[in-house]
Formats: sequence, structure tokens, C-alpha cells
Amino acid sequence: MGSYRWPNHAASGGSSSEIQSSETMSDAALPLPASPEADILSALGTRSIVLVGMMGVGKSTIGRRLAARLKLPFVDADTEIEAAAGMTIPEIFERYGEAHFREGETRVIARLLDDGPVVLATGGGAYMREETRSRIAAKAVSIWLRADHDVIMRRVRRRADRPLLQTADPEGTVTRLLTEREPVYGKADLTIASRDVPHDRIVEECIETLRAHLCGEQSAPSPQDVASAVR
Ligand code: S3P
Repeated sequence: MGSYRWPNHAASGGSSSEIQSSETMSDAALPLPASPEADILSALGTRSIVLVGMMGVGKSTIGRRLAARLKLPFVDADTEIEAAAGMTIPEIFERYGEAHFREGETRVIARLLDDGPVVLATGGGAYMREETRSRIAAKAVSIWLRADHDVIMRRVRRRADRPLLQTADPEGTVTRLLTEREPVYGKADLTIASRDVPHDRIVEECIETLRAHLCGEQSAPSPQDVASAVR
């Protein structure tokens, strides 16, 4: 949220009695222990982290865990759309059609991006809209969670609440959607392979990749760098 601040003890000062204490002053001069989470948060500022990719790749599951690691709020665009509409996504599709759903999705994602930093999981079709892509590029770092056709099929079979897959040939639909969408998902800032490994491993890869992307050279110095700097 806008009010979220990563604690920065060195910059926050303290009461005048603390400042006068030489012990506190020497404590304050110590560098904060570096962590990838702290590096990412300070480089992000008010930008969010947005997960994009096909249905079934795990955007919500990974997003929720990534948010917990970073101590950021997690927001699921589909859940927010349902709350705003007062009905489920299948109901929106059935009553008003996909075009209406996409309009609502675009508006809801725009609103959520104004309230960063958060970790935002988007529905599989959201990133296909140019307007949403440019908003995400301006206000967030995007991660494409990419999974193979087989992994996606195995996972989407578990749920029957995806209107686009209520077809005679869901497998063919997934193939067609992947062909249309993968080149567009590829425009995301970062790509992480979603596969059948423990969720925490994918989250760890997100953290490492985000840190490298956002902090580059500024990430924590290696012990060798520190040793050569004090020589
Ligand atoms: C859609 C994906 C769904 C949901 C809607 C449309 C899509 O979200 O937004 O059914 O176009 O791929 P998930 O990707 O979270 O399943």
C-alpha cells in the first residue's frame, strides 16, 4: 500500500536522547543487514509486481507466497473483478459476454496499479490488452509465469470455472490460446518457468530474478568484494 515503508533505521533518526548516546550513534552507523527482500522493496518504491501468464500456471498461488516473502499485500485481479461486479466470472461471461468482462478487468487492474506496491495476480487474458500492458510497464515490474501445455492442461482440468475452457475441445482451446498469447506474455520484464516443483522454489527464483533485475550491480557485495575493499 502507499503507506507501506521498509524500515530504514539509519534515515529515521530517533529521539534527541538517543542521538546524544554515543552507543546509539555507533549502532546507527552500522549498515543494515542486506537481504534480497529489502533490496527489492527499496528498488520498487511504489511500483507493484504483476504476475501474468496463462490460466493454470499458478499466478495466484505463487503471487500469494511472493507477497508474504516481501511483506506486501497480495491482490488477485479476478477476485477484485468479482467483488466489483457482485457476481462470479462465469456469471459475468454468461450475462454480459467476454467484451464486457474485459472492460471491467481493464478498469479494475488500472485501479489496483494506482495503489502500489502490491503483488498482483492478473487473469490470463488481461495482459493481451495493450492499454493494460502499458499501464503495467509504467507502474510495475511484470513476471511471466510460463508453463508447458501439458502442465497447464493437468492443472486447468481440476477446475470448471473458466468460461473460455467450456468448449468441446478444451485442449485445442489451450493450444490456440498459447499460440496467440505466448508472444505477448514474452513482453513481460521477466520470465520464470512454472513447473511441478515445490512452490517455494518458484518463489525463490522470482526473488532472485527480481533482485538481479531491479538492483543489478547494487545488490549485496560478495564477501570477496568486502575483503578487497578493506585491504
Ligand atoms: C481468463 C483467465 C481467468 C479469468 C477468465 C479469463 C483468460 O483467470 O480471468 O476466466 O482469458 O485466460 P486465471 O488466469 O486466473 O484462470
